[in-house]
Amino acid sequence: MTQKIGVVIVAAGSGSRFGDPLPKQYHQLGGKSLLGHCIDCFAGHTSADLIQIVYNPDHQDWYDSAITEVSCGSDIPTPVTGGKTRQQSVLNGLRALGDKSPDIVLIHDAARPGISDAVMIRVIAALKTHVGAIPTLPVADTIKQANGNNIILRTIARDSLHRAQTPQGFIFKTIFDAHTQFEGQEMTDDASLLEQLGLDVVCVEGAPSNDKITQRDDFGRAQDWIETTDTEDKLMSQEEYRAGTGFDVHRFAPGDHCILCGVKVPHTARLEGHSDADVGLHTLTDAILGAIGAGDIGQHFPPSDMQWKGAASDIFLKHAADLVRQRGGRIVNVDVTLICERPKIGPHTPEMRQKVADILAIGVDRVNVKATTTEKLGFTGREEGIAAQAAVSVALPIT
Ligand code: CTP
Ligand code: MG
Repeated sequence: MTQKIGVVIVAAGSGSRFGDPLPKQYHQLGGKSLLGHCIDCFAGHTSADLIQIVYNPDHQDWYDSAITEVSCGSDIPTPVTGGKTRQQSVLNGLRALGDKSPDIVLIHDAARPGISDAVMIRVIAALKTHVGAIPTLPVADTIKQANGNNIILRTIARDSLHRAQTPQGFIFKTIFDAHTQFEGQEMTDDASLLEQLGLDVVCVEGAPSNDKITQRDDFGRAQDWIETTDTEDKLMSQEEYRAGTGFDVHRFAPGDHCILCGVKVPHTARLEGHSDADVGLHTLTDAILGAIGAGDIGQHFPPSDMQWKGAASDIFLKHAADLVRQRGGRIVNVDVTLICERPKIGPHTPEMRQKVADILAIGVDRVNVKATTTEKLGFTGREEGIAAQAAVSVALPIT
């Protein structure tokens, strides 16, 4: 079932630090207001009637002209009035969205026109496994903490520091309840509320273009971004394709069946090794990990770790697929070749394809399983074991 994605764009601020009578969210960038850029980007990911703008009615004329610049402008709901603080504005937006019962909500600052599809896809993907997800960037500078006289007290290790951006994504009910509970208290972003409640919010990779426009200088940076990225480039570069390959071998031992690509295949021997020794799924797991540069199966599930003894290899393959999704990517297709004289694989390939498709949560038309012998040559020819190889294609977003 597809998730219903609600969006709240907060645009009720006055932009005091920007210091211009025209609030920053209504400034023009490449023929569209900052707010208009944000609406257009979200409209590619959900229906316009789920995009709730929060504004200041004193800005009505500027708002009206901003809306006419975006193609879905007439389909978005009437804006709701913001509050004194950003937090109050968000709550007003969430209240207005509540009637439409979205499953998840993305909360975004109108002052971030450089939001990219890739960032949004990563936030949405992370909400499959977390109640909250926010885009962040690493901190590049060395960070000092100083006292009131500007004397440095300490250097703060920056490895664990993240600069928070928006859209911040949440399970709708969780963030709505939290905002209701903390109404009147001031926090500068939405993730802070869940942090207060001890809930896990995950950081996904943000984008430099998505930094907030706060001061006048920031506007120049956004202009550069618009001018150097033409629309076609943006569309072309949303995804890149990665390839990965895998190879694995397991030897035979006394037994009466093998597990191959998740299917129990009767045989006069079993396969020996890590977990259930499913050579097909191990190979495929390695190929997916390879495509996303995530090492190999042994690094994620060490054979020395007793918890994997006899484990169904579905777990390994599902983990690799989850890593692809956490990066905002998708598995385009997979192809597995099982190499053995016996057992006969052909009769089982339809079931194997279905099983692999189910574990990866992709269509069966994106999965192929085939087999070959080695003409009785080599270790597979002598029936000492089974070898398998796999190739996969993965699409990953580009920021
Ligand atoms: N915002 C809002 N309601 C408020 C305050 C802020 O909807 N009461 C929105 C802003 O319009 C902006 C986002 O929250 O899109 C982030 O806030 P910020 O960058 O601080 O914008 P302003 O509050 O407008 O700017 P300043 O703090 O400089 O006055
Ligand atoms: Mg502000």
